[in-house]
Amino acid sequence: MAKLSGTAIIVFVLFAFLAEQSVAGRYYDDKVEDKVRKEVKNAIEKNPGIGAALVRLVFHDCWVNGCDGSVLLDKTPTDGFNTEKKAVNNIGLDGFGVIDAIKDKVKNDNVSCADIIVLAGRDAASILSGGKITYPITRGRLDGVSSSAAEADRALPTSDFDFDQLKTNFDSGFRKFTVEELVVLSGAHSIGVAHLSSYADRLTSAATPDFQIDSSYRAALNATTPPALLKQGQNPRVPNNVRDETQAFQQQAEYDPVAMGVNPTKGVLDNSYYHNTLENKVLFKSDWVLRTDGEAAGKLVEYRDKPEEWNKDFAAAMAKLSGLPAQGKNFEVRKNCRVINNHY
Ligand code: HEM
Repeated sequence: MAKLSGTAIIVFVLFAFLAEQSVAGRYYDDKVEDKVRKEVKNAIEKNPGIGAALVRLVFHDCWVNGCDGSVLLDKTPTDGFNTEKKAVNNIGLDGFGVIDAIKDKVKNDNVSCADIIVLAGRDAASILSGGKITYPITRGRLDGVSSSAAEADRALPTSDFDFDQLKTNFDSGFRKFTVEELVVLSGAHSIGVAHLSSYADRLTSAATPDFQIDSSYRAALNATTPPALLKQGQNPRVPNNVRDETQAFQQQAEYDPVAMGVNPTKGVLDNSYYHNTLENKVLFKSDWVLRTDGEAAGKLVEYRDKPEEWNKDFAAAMAKLSGLPAQGKNFEVRKNCRVINNHY
């Protein structure tokens, strides 16, 4: 009896310990994942915007020759300094400092930079969604040794794409993503920021017909970031999500998140993107064009109305994205994520 009580106490203490760990949102079975999670959490606490950058980094690494850490390289023997970071389509790409900090913490754990990107992106998605978006990551990716700006510009979609271009981009070569997955992943634009140059084409009737963007939203964007700024060499940034705009902006844009059924908390990774898109209050043409295809438009409505379904499908699509196989020939586990080993 005394023995049983002892066991019961141990079990109780163990459960209490695990509950404590779980409340803190930590992993308990894997030291590397634990270290990554801690760094990502710290980074987001210091700078909330960095979480979105880490989610985007997964897309921009894995879309170009698979998940191989090539997006992190500052220079390579074949491309010099003209690496993916220099691609026009990588405008605003960020999060490199966080990846460096994580690499430093796991330097004795034999973890590739490619693995760090997908782990960090996964943790950022989990934190920004309040724990609603979670998915497992298997490690073992290796780092590539080449990185080309031109290749990144060929591979990555741009914000002025029409629907057919997006569909083709998502289903070409080693990337086999369905229309549903295109719609699911586009929901990542519920977080983060964009430069004026990425949506300036949406600000005039001449470039974008009135029915493609809500007139009040367009007026608010023109008031805060007039396209003329580009001619003066300025390229300011605005939140991707009108939910994350100031109250004054939202008033001008006639955007009332609560009335629309959107959680007004700023910075959350959730299905608000679908509410906004269906009201034409989204930044990019590539967001709006999802309304022009029957299947994609149906999915927009589904994800607007079923937030839990979007969380689940987004997690699955991110896991698939994070598993895109590296396409190169030569690999290593880089010591420094910014340069290949024989340049270290
Ligand atoms: C469907 C095609 C897509 C296009 C055309 C596109 C385009 C863009 C553009 C132009 C920006 C703003 C860049 C800037 O001006 O600074 C952006 C930001 C962003 N994109 Fe996408 N994107 C696409 C898909 C995705 C996917 C699949 C993800 C992630 C799974 C994603 C995640 C993000 C995030 C999180 C940001 C904000 C980044 C930050 O604040 O640092 N995008 N995207």
